[in-house]
Amino acid sequence: MTQGIEGLFARTEEFPNPSAQARSNALVGLDALINRLVNDAVVLANPTALMVWSQEVHGEAIAALDAVKDRTALFVFAGDVGVGKTEVAEVLGQVIAVRTGIDVTLYPLSLTARGRGAVGEMTTLLTCAFERISADFAKTRRADGIAASLGILLIDEGDALAQSRELAAMHHEDRAGVNALLRGIDGIRTDRLPILTIVCTNRLDALDPALRRRAAVVEVFERPDHHQRAALLSRLLAGTKLTADDITTLAAMTGAADGRPHGYTYSDLRQRLVPEIVLEAYRRRTAIDAAIAAEVLARTQPTRPFDAAVR
Ligand SMILES: Nc1ncnc2c1ncn2[C@@H]1O[C@H](COP(=O)(O)OP(=O)(O)OP(=O)(O)O)[C@@H](O)[C@H]1O
Ligand SMILES: [Mg+2]
Repeated sequence: MTQGIEGLFARTEEFPNPSAQARSNALVGLDALINRLVNDAVVLANPTALMVWSQEVHGEAIAALDAVKDRTALFVFAGDVGVGKTEVAEVLGQVIAVRTGIDVTLYPLSLTARGRGAVGEMTTLLTCAFERISADFAKTRRADGIAASLGILLIDEGDALAQSRELAAMHHEDRAGVNALLRGIDGIRTDRLPILTIVCTNRLDALDPALRRRAAVVEVFERPDHHQRAALLSRLLAGTKLTADDITTLAAMTGAADGRPHGYTYSDLRQRLVPEIVLEAYRRRTAIDAAIAAEVLARTQPTRPFDAAVR
């Protein structure tokens, strides 16, 4: 491999940091989900938290704690395009760092950006990634089991890699990639390193069963519902001439409709609809109001669901 370790990770990010906090603040409607994920991640980093709880409520460290300890620190985020998988994966470290006071480092690994190079490249890439992150965290767990820091290995757009080994059409190299990933996360578990691996995918059904079986958490992200759309729109369009009723109407209009079973995604609203409303009002040098919003909406269709797009 000529690429070597340099440039292995797109950019590592240390938490807490202000820009991650801003991104975390901008998320709408995901508080319950993020709380759950943070809790699970924290237990991984600090198994003694469970012991303390068990002592408190059961008077002893119950046997079932071992079953939790043996779980693999793997989260799978699945779901349609533009529903927050990457965003949540990237800000999770921030929330963990703020709540627990431990330092968290994110290691984002991009497989697709590199394309499919020489045979063995994906396997080498994954093996190097696990080696590097394991070395960084080899000494971070203290004698009392508490990790002083937590690493998050993010394998975004893991579709290429996470494809089922059962698929007949699967290229030999892909299978080797899946195996390298399984070896990597198994090694982390065996060595009890405080490292959480997150795999994002659009296609849960195509995910390798061996990988899925290991996941402590499989979270399927959905398009926003009416309340989530309303909350996001009211935040994004604050200060305009849109009233609360206008926002409710807009939230309803961006939901599923006749002849269109899917509503707008978070990214449809945030990266397409709202910027287009702003630009349209700017072109006319008028204020943003319900009429402009409705007009722009009519010509801004929601992204088709991922499944529909591939068929
Ligand atoms: N809950 C949310 N609240 C506010 N904005 C959100 C939310 N979820 C996602 N977004 C915004 O939508 C955009 C797309 O989100 P993200 O990149 O996480 O999608 P994704 O699920 O990873 O999609 P893909 O499968 O295409 O990679 C981002 O700009 C993100 O900030
Ligand atoms: Mg993504």
